[in-house]
Amino acid sequence: MFDLEKTKKEMESVAIVDNIRLTDDDKLVIIDQVKLPNIMEHKTISDLEDAYQAIKKLEIRGAPAIGIFAGYAMYVLSLKDEDKDFETFYQNFKHNKEYLNSSRPTAVNLSWALNRMDKLVLDNEDKDVKEIIDLLKKEAIAIHNEDIEMCCRICEYGLSLLKDGDGVLTHCNAGPLATSYGTAQGPFLLAKARGMNIRVFADETRPLLQGARLTSFELEKAGVDVTLICDNMASIVMKNGWIQACFVGCDRIAANGDFANKIGTSGVAILANHYGIPVYTLGPSSTIDMNCPDGDHIKIELRDPEEIKNMWYEKPMALKETKCYNPAFDVTDHELLTGIVTEKGIIYPPFDVNLKKVFEE
Ligand code: MRU
Repeated sequence: MFDLEKTKKEMESVAIVDNIRLTDDDKLVIIDQVKLPNIMEHKTISDLEDAYQAIKKLEIRGAPAIGIFAGYAMYVLSLKDEDKDFETFYQNFKHNKEYLNSSRPTAVNLSWALNRMDKLVLDNEDKDVKEIIDLLKKEAIAIHNEDIEMCCRICEYGLSLLKDGDGVLTHCNAGPLATSYGTAQGPFLLAKARGMNIRVFADETRPLLQGARLTSFELEKAGVDVTLICDNMASIVMKNGWIQACFVGCDRIAANGDFANKIGTSGVAILANHYGIPVYTLGPSSTIDMNCPDGDHIKIELRDPEEIKNMWYEKPMALKETKCYNPAFDVTDHELLTGIVTEKGIIYPPFDVNLKKVFEE
């Protein structure tokens, strides 16, 4: 249906697509996203602690990117055990897997990728450890390539919902930095590559400013018409009639269509419903967790109060003793959602019925 090679080339002409890379000599290299937008620096991940901290500190972030990174990390870490017997190899593999899995709880893509690597090892336990490690490399590359293909399809389906001149509000960062080629912000890049004009309003996304530091950076660099707003300005731009749709990412979609995404997403969806603006979440089908019945079963990551009080300021912006509540994600009720855009197409309500169908096909 789509000419994916063409889509891929178009995306590569406008997007930064080397946020995770396995070098020819098997080094895992990422763009350190904490330093963006002021410093573009690559970082090599050398051991388990590096990999764990990279996820925890958001040097690598965004649900699909964390999954891709975890696949490569499991491969690179397993190279240290290539001379071990299977028992010892697998014991260390399990330890690495469990430690990485404990780094962040909300995005399902992390455990999805780790379980996929684990299954590969168990399916091949009769083979030589070196052979298993070769297979792990192939699997990690496959996870990455599949994500590229999924992103290209998501960008095509997402763009089919927009027309020239539309204004779209987006939250957090779900562009190529958060994935391979982009989900929620991918269609804006594809539109640019095709000479279409989409006006993007990017929420700054407090407290970690992924919208300001990453989304406006990625879109500005690509020449997309992007306007940065504070999170509390979403209502006024909607009221002004500047927004025709909201495109947001997702970290876990439950079987009934409730979905977790960056804190503030549910507020955007509530406002959009008030103004009659459609809300779409865009993500690969690996983000759908059919074992999770609804949003109440999604574990929400709580982060350090310092991110609110100190992180971006020269002086603290609240007293040390002031309590903070800092959830990294919230859950948007499926009733506020117009559609879920995946690589398999656009899923509309009733989500409990239609999500099931996607996995039956
Ligand atoms: O805490 P982050 O920066 O990893 O949160 C990222 C988001 O919430 C994204 O919107 C989501 O992971 C989708 S990324 C394609």
